[in-house]
Amino acid sequence: MAEAMRGLKRTHRCTEVSNKNIGETVTVMGWVQKKRNLGSLVFADLRDRSGLLQIVFDTNDIGEEGFEKAGTLRSEFVIAVVGKVEARSGAVNDNLATGDIEIRATELRILSEAEVPPFHIEENSQTKEDLRLKYRYLDLRRPDLQRNLMVRSKVATLARAFMANEGFLEIETPMLTKSTPEGARDYLVPSRVHPGTFYALPQSPQLFKQLLMCSGYDRYFQIARCFRDEDLRADRQPEFTQMDMELSFVDVDDVIDVNERLLAHLFKEVLDVDVKLPIQRMTWQEAMDRFGSDKPDLRFGMELKDISEVVKNCGFSVFTSALENGGSVRGINANGQGHMPRKKIDALVDFAKGYGAKGLAYIAINEDGTYKSSFAKFMTDEEMNAIVDKMEGKPGDLLLFAADKNKIVYEVLGALRLEIANNLGILDKNEYRFVWITEFPLLEWSDEQNRYVAMHHPFTMPMDEDLDKLDTDPGAVRAKAYDIVLNGTEIGGGSVRIYQNEVQEKMFEVLGFTKEAAYDRFGFLLNAFKYGVPPHAGLAYGLDRLVMLMVKADSIREVIAFPKVKDASCLMTNAPDVVDDKQLEELYLNVVPVENEEAGKEE
Ligand code: AMO
Ligand code: AMP
Repeated sequence: MAEAMRGLKRTHRCTEVSNKNIGETVTVMGWVQKKRNLGSLVFADLRDRSGLLQIVFDTNDIGEEGFEKAGTLRSEFVIAVVGKVEARSGAVNDNLATGDIEIRATELRILSEAEVPPFHIEENSQTKEDLRLKYRYLDLRRPDLQRNLMVRSKVATLARAFMANEGFLEIETPMLTKSTPEGARDYLVPSRVHPGTFYALPQSPQLFKQLLMCSGYDRYFQIARCFRDEDLRADRQPEFTQMDMELSFVDVDDVIDVNERLLAHLFKEVLDVDVKLPIQRMTWQEAMDRFGSDKPDLRFGMELKDISEVVKNCGFSVFTSALENGGSVRGINANGQGHMPRKKIDALVDFAKGYGAKGLAYIAINEDGTYKSSFAKFMTDEEMNAIVDKMEGKPGDLLLFAADKNKIVYEVLGALRLEIANNLGILDKNEYRFVWITEFPLLEWSDEQNRYVAMHHPFTMPMDEDLDKLDTDPGAVRAKAYDIVLNGTEIGGGSVRIYQNEVQEKMFEVLGFTKEAAYDRFGFLLNAFKYGVPPHAGLAYGLDRLVMLMVKADSIREVIAFPKVKDASCLMTNAPDVVDDKQLEELYLNVVPVENEEAGKEE
């Protein structure tokens, strides 16, 4: 035991002391949040992970020497205090759990001193995030981050217990492995023993959990770290955590059932929020048509409407040419925003262009029922009225339209809908709207690779009724895949897996793999399927995203102890970093000097 603690043992965390303990002697330890020197008395707020507790130092209780020591305390000193619990002598602080009591110190020990920290340790810090991340160990002392990580710990503990109770076994899968295809770039680890070869860090435990099903483990669960070298955003980190599961002898409904109960359990226990079951389900097509997104935020309306039929013969070539090219014309109605100044509408047009729109057409309906519009001159009055009708436009509304290929129209209006809701501040973080998105397309055409790519991953089962289209019309095949979406964020996703080798081989063929290439990469899975494989399905949550929404944070960095920043570096440790030549030699690696500073960085 540390010298300074000899003979002392902590009896309570700060907020474990209450008015029930009045008259008792307690020993508390923690950090000095704040000290006030009133001459004859010294007050200090003591902080630990549970909260704050007021300490009073008075010569009458602690003696001259102790009182003098109390005068030397500064913020972030770590101290131990022995003292008597009393009702607070000054004003009661209703904002504190311990606001009606204080400790009259009889003994003070300074366990360690502290330099002045580069920023004040306080809730809702206004400090720049870069500085906070550089001193993350100080940032992590802040009550809001401590609460976030406590919620995260609670979610993990509850999930483990729930899953165990449902018959899931927790089994670890390797970190040093072969590339698992979730569509992102791999992080590679060079092998010293096999020069010139590399392990890949797993993008998910996908293949291993399927193999565990082949091996008869029946129900698997793991809280697993995953690694993906992709562009970062507020809800993406290069390493993140999945709550991952796989089940044998099941179909879509079984997976959905256990997960709905898991979510309801977590929200009840952690937030005392009742999740109404069953959770709403929506097909991918419906989500795209109504919300322009496969992760629709259902906390507000402003749904997309298709006006293609209404404008197909109009004189506005922007609309008609989009239709002639196989696209559509759709709009959203921003109710009551008809008075939006031109400058703000122009900002929305620019926003839409950022999502690939060539433009954004609008109709503002004046209070007297006349229109202000960017394209009225190309239309007859009847056509204008028909559009407004279709959009259910009322005086005071603003109608916004995009004409293009469906993919772009969806993306633009889906994003615009969110942008307007954000600008209006109508999104309530206390409301939790869940929705399952089902019947995803199995494949997605990639212009870049000039081939189909798997929308979820190559092991996802086509829907029974679409199986025969795999040869004739692969783009139209729907998958037994499902995502769970909360307030516009995809918090989890999964699918029923292909378990028949013929279907799996066919799938690889559609994806443009030769049989040799498929066996070279995934032979261990294809071979395993030859020895008796149960039908199986699974799902994985992004734990970071789930907790982010539970604690109402804006970024997953707020729920990860040591996160990375946008360029995937860690500001505290300076990782990634160069290594000694000796280390490179042992690995038989040569580093090619970077000529262009921008090399390796994404657009
Ligand atoms: P998927 O790729 O959809 O599925 O990932 C599952 C969930 O993980 C979260 N997620 C991320 N969170 C933070 N940072 C990232 N870079 C990141 N990437 C994904 C998302 C997502 O819903 N093996 C399949 C699951 C399955 O089929 O069972 C998989 O990994 O919340
Ligand atoms: P223009 O005739 O090009 O000035 O376009 C007239 C209006 O149509 C402007 O408000 C443009 O922003 C809008 N517009 C242009 N292209 C599109 C498009 N693809 N979809 C919707 N509106 C568009």
